[in-house]
Amino acid sequence: MGVSFWEDPYPVYKTFQDRSGVFWDEMLEVWVVAGRSAVNTVLRSPAMSSDWLRLNVSESTARDFPELERMLLGWFMLMDPPDHTRNRRALQPFFTRNRVEGLAEEFRDIVATRLELVRPLDGVDIASDFAAPVAGAMLARVLDVPVGVMVGAAVHMTAIASFLAQPHKREFAERAAAAVDRLNGLYRELAPDLSRDSALFPLMGDDPKAPEDPYLHTAHLLSFAGQETTAGLIASGLLHLLREPGLYKEVAAGHADPDAVVEELLRFDTPVPQVPRVALSDLTVDGRTIRAGDRVLVLLAAANRDWHHTRDADVLDFARNQRHMAFGVGIHYCLGAPIARRGAKTAISEWTAAFPEVRLVPESVRWAVGTGFRRLESALVQPA
Ligand code: HEM
Repeated sequence: MGVSFWEDPYPVYKTFQDRSGVFWDEMLEVWVVAGRSAVNTVLRSPAMSSDWLRLNVSESTARDFPELERMLLGWFMLMDPPDHTRNRRALQPFFTRNRVEGLAEEFRDIVATRLELVRPLDGVDIASDFAAPVAGAMLARVLDVPVGVMVGAAVHMTAIASFLAQPHKREFAERAAAAVDRLNGLYRELAPDLSRDSALFPLMGDDPKAPEDPYLHTAHLLSFAGQETTAGLIASGLLHLLREPGLYKEVAAGHADPDAVVEELLRFDTPVPQVPRVALSDLTVDGRTIRAGDRVLVLLAAANRDWHHTRDADVLDFARNQRHMAFGVGIHYCLGAPIARRGAKTAISEWTAAFPEVRLVPESVRWAVGTGFRRLESALVQPA
């Protein structure tokens, strides 16, 4: 049996790029943007909107689920300026590189505690036993909320991710709406005990018993944007290293620059492979004109391997030193990039140092299907 799209989407992305940097997909009724320079132009253009309502005009089933619609309208990732700018600016101080680097020691403790619990002798799943709990605990620390809240939130994220990837499917909307309901319950319960130092605290309003929408919606957005993505990078990063035993040994021995390792893993297998946009006005890119009202799918993962401009694009090479687009480009550039970088650097360095002699069980590798994230579901590791 051949390798499926979800196991390795890159051959499909390559056929897109061979066709053109920008093309209209008749079946999906969307512009596909796959070339590196085209991705850069589209994401920096004020002609492109991230607005949730515009992205899903007319056929959207979301309107039948008002709480779901309300939540997505409250995510500043799906807003345009000036609302986007105002909301993002309010959170920025909590996500600076300096603040996150100040938590480096605590991130190391989180990883060390987890490493005490996992023993390759019995077989360890790098996705569910290591990457997911570690990423959840790191995000809980950054947001100053109990780990249990992040664990609870994580359970509901797949439903929301599946809906965002395919918003016209009614059963996905139903499941996502139920997830929003549970998440609201979880964060309402947390509100009276929330630390005053939390990034979420200023958004709560005066009455912790009836926290305001900006608190709930931002809590959902950060749980969604921060957890699966970082877990995905750690898990798929370790998987790709385990598939290249020479590179794994190099990293385990501390012979590779940990920053370069993480940057190359982000380029090589991009945890958020695509971001959606809709055109507010006409925009001509690579000689093709995207018209106002057209929907656009921007393939960050394809741009990161741009086969026409990248030497040995399908090879992991820590000396490459190439800027990638895994955190997006322009005004929506990932707010949590310092957390993801520091988190993955700590997790991957400490794991490989603790377990220099392990091997992957190839038949245990499973990727999630049908979500907008690239998510490794499981991959077992045993003693070599
Ligand atoms: C490897 C991990 C991560 C990857 C690959 C990633 C990727 C991305 C990408 C591609 C975008 C741009 C979306 C767009 O243009 O529409 C984005 C935005 C965002 N990310 Fe991340 N992310 C990661 C981790 C995090 C973490 C840890 C957080 C923190 C909670 C976070 C919070 C956000 C937020 C709030 C936005 C919206 C920014 C805006 O609209 O201005 N992300 N991320």
